[in-house]
Parts: sequence; structure tokens; C-alpha cells
Amino acid sequence: MTKKLFIKTWGCQMNVYDSARMADVLAPLGYGLAESPEGADLVILNTCHVREKASEKVFSELGRLRAEKRRKAEAGERMIVAVAGCVAQAEGQEILDRAPVVDMVFGPQTYHTLPEMVARASGERVLNTDFPAESKFDSLPEETAPQGVSAFLAVQEGCDKFCTFCVVPYTRGAEYSRDAATVLAEARRLVAGGTREITLLGQNVNAWHGEGPEGGTWGLGRLIRALAEIGGLARIRYTTSHPRDMADDLISAHAEVPQLMPFVHLPVQSGSDRILAAMNRKHRADEYRRVVGRLREARPDLALSSDFIVGYPDETDRDFADTLRLVTEIGYAQAYTFMYSPRPGTPAAGMAGRQVPEAVKKERLAALQQLVNAQQVAFNMDMVGRTVPVLLDRRGHRAGQLMGRSPWMQSVPVAAPDRLMGTIVEVRVSAARENSLAGEIETTEAASGGARAAPGTAALTEYPA
Ligand code: SAM
Ligand code: SF4
Ligand code: F3S
Repeated sequence: MTKKLFIKTWGCQMNVYDSARMADVLAPLGYGLAESPEGADLVILNTCHVREKASEKVFSELGRLRAEKRRKAEAGERMIVAVAGCVAQAEGQEILDRAPVVDMVFGPQTYHTLPEMVARASGERVLNTDFPAESKFDSLPEETAPQGVSAFLAVQEGCDKFCTFCVVPYTRGAEYSRDAATVLAEARRLVAGGTREITLLGQNVNAWHGEGPEGGTWGLGRLIRALAEIGGLARIRYTTSHPRDMADDLISAHAEVPQLMPFVHLPVQSGSDRILAAMNRKHRADEYRRVVGRLREARPDLALSSDFIVGYPDETDRDFADTLRLVTEIGYAQAYTFMYSPRPGTPAAGMAGRQVPEAVKKERLAALQQLVNAQQVAFNMDMVGRTVPVLLDRRGHRAGQLMGRSPWMQSVPVAAPDRLMGTIVEVRVSAARENSLAGEIETTEAASGGARAAPGTAALTEYPA
């Protein structure tokens, strides 16, 4: 009999990828994915530590699971409750101490040992937050099910940059790149299963480097060129990039590889050099402007998104004005805005006396959000009257509707029969909203049609990788 596995995912796309891989690791043990925690045999909460709110949500979820676990126990059955991901890595034993409902706590680097951990959990509470010398990527099984029209592929993990506000170097560990041959093999399997768009993932994906199949060191640009040779792979994306690692070869790939989508998520965090230096970002605002200029030179229709932190310790009105100026100059298609939140164990959290008052942070956040929302709406409005290619990758909210994305990540629901799932259609845009475009199909992909695939698995992401 299939055992029920429920995984709830918070945070970035890397967590979404990890959750899918956890399901692959558990499939040989008879676990099949369920839509809800009701009656589940194993529940995994795959957590994010970027915001304080995110870790608190985990504890309220655990509160709800306590009742469900008790109900199962009364029926003589067991529910194993696990906390995984970045909160698990950062808080480890504290979670076991604070939440008796939890049976297992494991970090992002140990989930390939889930079969062993599940076996141990029958007799003890399990804590596994090691950083093993051998990468998990060497032990993970192949994907057990088609990954959908649009799939994630982790190529890089961890970070050596140590921005002063960020937990990632501590929760994900040192920067690691998978080798080109295994990435290409995974990409070919995805495409054979019907995937038409691959998003390469990494905390600093453009720091990816590895030995090429015929020797020599490849960077991300070279890897993208090799991926573009896989027949049937229509679209390639990558996220998240660091401005310092935007190599020439990656920039020129935007000019030369048509499958590489004209959309780059390039976090800047602040427009003030003083704050960027305090954050240990290793780039100045003008260097960021230059990188953006070069990307746009390579691909004039390229759009950008970014991350911003407001209210970093010591941030003055003048620093914040520099951020607004940078946003105005660059013009973003999308942006993620965060109020600075002291993360335990990071250097900035120790700057106790210099924290910006909450009220000021909130004011700055509202002003920044107003600016980026206006830019996002203007960017979307600019599409009205144009015809844009949309890769249909999931069902729409209404009957007879499919959804897809434009090259610039806008969601586009259209009236379309199921047989068009997995194909690229040309949509004439008639209206734009803050987060989506509306329109009708003008033409469908060449008569042969694209490879079709199962729609992607639903996932909750609050943030890219
Ligand atoms: N690797 C990416 C980069 O270099 O920018 C992002 C990594 S982080 C997981 C995602 C985003 O969360 C960051 O870009 C930052 O804007 C935000 N973030 C991280 N730590 C934060 C903190 N302590 N307070 C507020 N926002 C934070
Ligand atoms: Fe690394 Fe990005 Fe975190 Fe900086 S913000 S430490 S570059 S993951
Ligand atoms: Fe969150 Fe960890 Fe991703 S802290 S954003 S889940 S790398």
C-alpha cells in the first residue's frame, strides 16, 4: 500500500527543487505525494529562514499538525513529522526542544539520507544538520516522475559571499557547483519527460563553474550554450545571480542564445554605496548599473527584477533616497522588497544599537513598493497590443483555460484546449494587470506541436533561489 507523504514548502525555488527531490528519495520506500496532511504517514515542512515571520509560520503549522498526529495515534497509526530546510539547519536541536510533535529535523544537505532517517525515527528523535563531505547530488536518485513543462534544475548551491544580513552561507554551506556532465544528463532526462523550459537554480547561480565534458573549465554561459543544443528545450532561465559574477560569456550568451530568456533576476539590495559596503555586497551601485547596461546592450528587450532590503542598520534617509534613485534609473519589471530583519548568527544582527526603527522601515518599504509596483504595471501595460510567445505550462483557474508565462515571466491565462499544454502559443495581449497579462491566442506552435508534458507540481514560493 502506498504511504502518504505531504510536503509543505516555503521560501525559494531551491526549496521547491529540494522538496521534489525528497519525494524522489522516498518513492522507493512506497511514499506517494498527497495534497494535504490529513491522514499522512510522513509530513515534511521544508522551511525558509530569510524572514522571522517564515520561521514563526513553521511553529504555527506544527501546532496544527499536533492535532492530526494525535487523531492518527488514536486510530493506532503513526504520523512522522519532520522539519527540513533552512530553519531546521539554523535552529536544529531548538526545534526538537520547543516542539515535541517533531520526530525529525534535517538540513538542506542531508535529505538524500531520508530512508535511513525514517528508519531511525521509529525508535528515536532524529537530528541531522551535518554538512557531509560528499555532496548529496552524488547520491540522489533520478527523478521518479515527469517534472512538468517548466522544471527547476539545481546546478549550484551554497554561498561564500557572506553578506552581513544573510543566513544562506550558514544554512546552505559553502559554494558548490555540480559538474557539467551530470547537469546535462539531468536536463536531457527532463526534456525526454516533456520539459520544455528549464530554470537553472543556485543561491549564486552565475558563480557556477565546472569541468566541461572534454576538460577545461566552463562557466554558466558555456553551460547554457550546451543546454541550448538539447533538441526540444525551448527556454532556459537562471536564478539567482550576483552582480559580481556576471561574466562576459554569460552576458554574450544573452545576445547569442535565443533559448535564453530575456529576463534576469539580479539582486542589488541597496542603491547606497555606504550601505552596500556595510552589507559586504562586494559591489558598488555604479558597478551594478554598468552590468545592467551591458546586459541590455547584449539583449535590448531584457527585463530585470531585483531584491531590496530597506532599513538595514544605520540606513539614513539619504541612503534610502539613493535606492529610490537607482530603481528609477534602472526600471524594473518586478522586485522583491524586504524590511531588514536581524537574523540570529549573522554579523548585522549584532549591531544592536544601530537598528532602524520599525516605523521608519515600514515607511520606506511602502515608498519603495509604490515605486516598483508602478514600474511593474507600466512594464506590463507596454505589452498591450503586442503579440507575445507564451509557453503553456499549467491549467488555468477557469474551465477551458491554460496558463503560461511570457519570456518576461508575466503569467498569461488564455482560453485553450488541453492539447496545447506544453506548446508555445502567440498571444495577442489585450489587457495588463499588476501580475498578469490577458489576451487571446493568435497562432499556435508549428503544426508538429511541442512535446507535451504533465503540468508542473503546484508549489508555494515566496522568493526565487
Ligand atoms: N543569493 C541572492 C543574492 O545574492 O542576492 C539572494 C539570497 S536571499 C535567500 C534572498 C533575499 O532575501 C536577499 O536577496 C535579500 O533581499 C533578502 N534577505 C536576506 N536576508 C535578509 C534579512 N536579514 N532581512 C531582510 N531581507 C533579507
Ligand atoms: Fe550569498 Fe546572496 Fe546571501 Fe549574499 S545575499 S550571502 S550573495 S546568498
Ligand atoms: Fe529561504 Fe533558505 Fe531559500 S533561507 S530563501 S529557503 S536558501
